[in-house]
Amino acid sequence: MDKITVIGAGNVGATCANVVAHKDLAKEVVLVDIKEGIAEGKALDIWQSSSINNFNSRVIGSTNDYSKTKGSGIVVITSGLPRKPGMSRDDLIKTNAGIVKEVTEKVIKYSPDAIIIVVSNPLDVMSYAAYMAAKIPSQRVFGMAGTLDTARYKAFLAEALNVSPKDIQAMLLGGHGDTMVPLPRYTSVSGIPVTELLPSDVIEKIVDRTRKGGGELVNLMGTSAWYAPGAAAAQMAEAIVDDQKRVFPVCAYLNGEYGLKNIYLGVPVRLGRNGVEEIIELKLDQGEKALLNTSAESVKETMQALDDMKLF
Ligand code: NAI
Ligand code: 2OP
Repeated sequence: MDKITVIGAGNVGATCANVVAHKDLAKEVVLVDIKEGIAEGKALDIWQSSSINNFNSRVIGSTNDYSKTKGSGIVVITSGLPRKPGMSRDDLIKTNAGIVKEVTEKVIKYSPDAIIIVVSNPLDVMSYAAYMAAKIPSQRVFGMAGTLDTARYKAFLAEALNVSPKDIQAMLLGGHGDTMVPLPRYTSVSGIPVTELLPSDVIEKIVDRTRKGGGELVNLMGTSAWYAPGAAAAQMAEAIVDDQKRVFPVCAYLNGEYGLKNIYLGVPVRLGRNGVEEIIELKLDQGEKALLNTSAESVKETMQALDDMKLF
């Protein structure tokens, strides 16, 4: 790919640009921030690691000059406030909705064919805001959360089982919040159902820790996480660039799938060069359906806050 842009050169954006460059996913990686000099500085720092880390991607930074992003194939949007202790992701909507709308409009002006990966929180509603602002098909606008949340789930399971996280397969549904729905019935270790390997109370504790995984890190660090989030967004970019047809949980626009309409929510998708190429509908049991609907209700409440802002 010729160009990948990351908007927001903060913790998550800079980490994502760093991983994207390491993976040599694009000839040019552009980092943009509103704060004078920060994107240029971090881009230069990443670029100066190219001979050490053996990559060719030219990494450049820009303070709010979107002409540098022209012709991007993928744009990752990380601009906006992160959570502080005591805040939920939803508390961020007032500030972040305006930022996401503004940067999406600028991005799409210079890269009308881009695929947009939203990272800013509250993730599900910010994905919806980007979709409204971009006015492009929903297959090309979606959010990163499930790849991060399943990565956390896999890390906790790998620890409990003393196995490699690489051998854990898992799926997760719902919003990127405490109502997310990790699915033990769709979790296995090299094909062995996790329910055969761990007692249900241990699985339940891991599911609960996964749901609160973002908050655990906010409490430890005073701000939200960046290494796994940045890598998770870069993993999605890689699936697109290499047309890998990976099956990932992605925050995608639902138009009747899972009985839900006009909402962005985490579901399994096939991710390839065209973005979300298919939404995969699982045969959920009653309990799983109920949890998904509760999660959708919680996302709808935050969507109401977006509607009330009358940005669109
Ligand atoms: P950060 O504060 O380190 O970086 C945010 C950057 O956005 C700052 O450098 C800021 O100057 C920039 N920014 C603000 N307004 C801008 C604008 N109009 N144009 C360009 N840049 C602008 O925050 P961090 O930790 O990087 O988090 C970024 C966002 O990602 C937060 O909303 C956070 O909640 C979210 N997040 C989402 C995750 C997910 O799973 N979807 C995981 C982790 C974080
Ligand atoms: C996370 O899950 C806060 O969304 C951020 O780390």
